[in-house]
Amino acid sequence: MRNFNFAATTKIFFGKNKVNELANEIQKHGKRVLLAYGGGNIKKSGLYDKVISELTGAGIAYVELEGIQPNPRLKSVKEGVRLCRENQLDFILGVGGGSVIDCAKAIAAGVSYDGDPWDFVIRQAKVEKPLPVGSILTLSATGSEMNGNAVISNEEIKEKRAMGDERLRPVFSILDPTYTFTVNKWQTAAGTVDIMSHIFEQYFTHDTGTFVQDAIAEGILQTCIKYGPIAVEQPDDYEARANLMWASSLALNGLTGTGKLYGDWATHGIEHELSAFYDLTHGAGLAILFPVWMEYVLDSKTAPKLAQYARNIWHVETADDMEAAEQGIKATRKFFTRLEMPSSLAEVNITTDHFDQMAKNACVFGPIGMFRRLDGEDIKNILLKAL
Ligand code: NZQ
Ligand code: ZN
Repeated sequence: MRNFNFAATTKIFFGKNKVNELANEIQKHGKRVLLAYGGGNIKKSGLYDKVISELTGAGIAYVELEGIQPNPRLKSVKEGVRLCRENQLDFILGVGGGSVIDCAKAIAAGVSYDGDPWDFVIRQAKVEKPLPVGSILTLSATGSEMNGNAVISNEEIKEKRAMGDERLRPVFSILDPTYTFTVNKWQTAAGTVDIMSHIFEQYFTHDTGTFVQDAIAEGILQTCIKYGPIAVEQPDDYEARANLMWASSLALNGLTGTGKLYGDWATHGIEHELSAFYDLTHGAGLAILFPVWMEYVLDSKTAPKLAQYARNIWHVETADDMEAAEQGIKATRKFFTRLEMPSSLAEVNITTDHFDQMAKNACVFGPIGMFRRLDGEDIKNILLKAL
């Protein structure tokens, strides 16, 4: 295990009615709030009314930014920056899924920056003095509620890229599982795949001696395998929603990546290309790509870790690592299919049209992946195998 520093600084308010603590918590960080949300789920569920009554009850001034889309667009970020400047807002509250929270973070970074916020994701600018962000999570998936990452799409140039800074971690996040009861089957399944994928990205490394990190990671995977299908079938099952919600935060707050050099993150890089070109749901893209990536990188060097995964998660008993790994990959694909996620690009109407460009864009900063390094040709091969 390597040396590491670890701080997951987001204060979590977990459970039923925790939104009652919203105003009190905001007042520790700001006075004038940008309330950012998506396309209307929070109005249907009653969460919007609850938030407004918290804000007005405490005399907190607010301005709204609504309509943030899944795969959040740069134009929403710019609009949010404009609203913050014009109204001298000093706190951003994102209420929604990962897209809303990511957009909130990019706005937070953009307010004190004179240039185009896109500069952050193309590594032309560093985050300086971001506004504080808080979140109320409504969809268990990305872990954005407890990390400093934001993924933004630029529709005009068909690019989707990530930015990250420790200071963009929400100062608090409210996680009330009852507000996820309304998440539909597709998004519930996609969210479950996303949580598992965040574990995969940090679990499949060549670091050794990280037993505790691997055990936590395996526990989170088992949580998704146990509760994902329950939440899909029984949307108001509190136990399932609560376990998935906490799994979402724990899977990508830095915990399971501690003591390791880097995660892999190639599959996420490739999926972001699919979402950029086809506006695909992130978790659905991952469900297609992850089993293919596992098959592609499987060789004598990677087999032991893939076999560990197969044995500890899917109870594969074969002694041979290569064979065990293959069985584990099959089980992964089967599980994603059980969640009714797609297993091929054809199923989501994606053809080879943009594969060359996607491969090029994914490698714009050089080869990707650490478990096995992948260049543009490898990425194109993976996309072809995913057809
Ligand atoms: O627009 P609204 O009305 O909010 O509806 C959303 C949206 O249509 C809906 N939804 C959310 N909560 C709901 C609900 N519907 C009913 N009831 C609720 N309680 O679900 C749809 C999808 O929402 P979205 O926020 O896009 O989903 P998710 O949380 O999966 O976020 C996906 C985005 O996060 C990025 C992805 O790439 C994608 O852009 N990621 C962010 C990461 C991070 N910040 O660390 C890491 C991830 O790997 C990922 O890349
Ligand atoms: Zn993800």
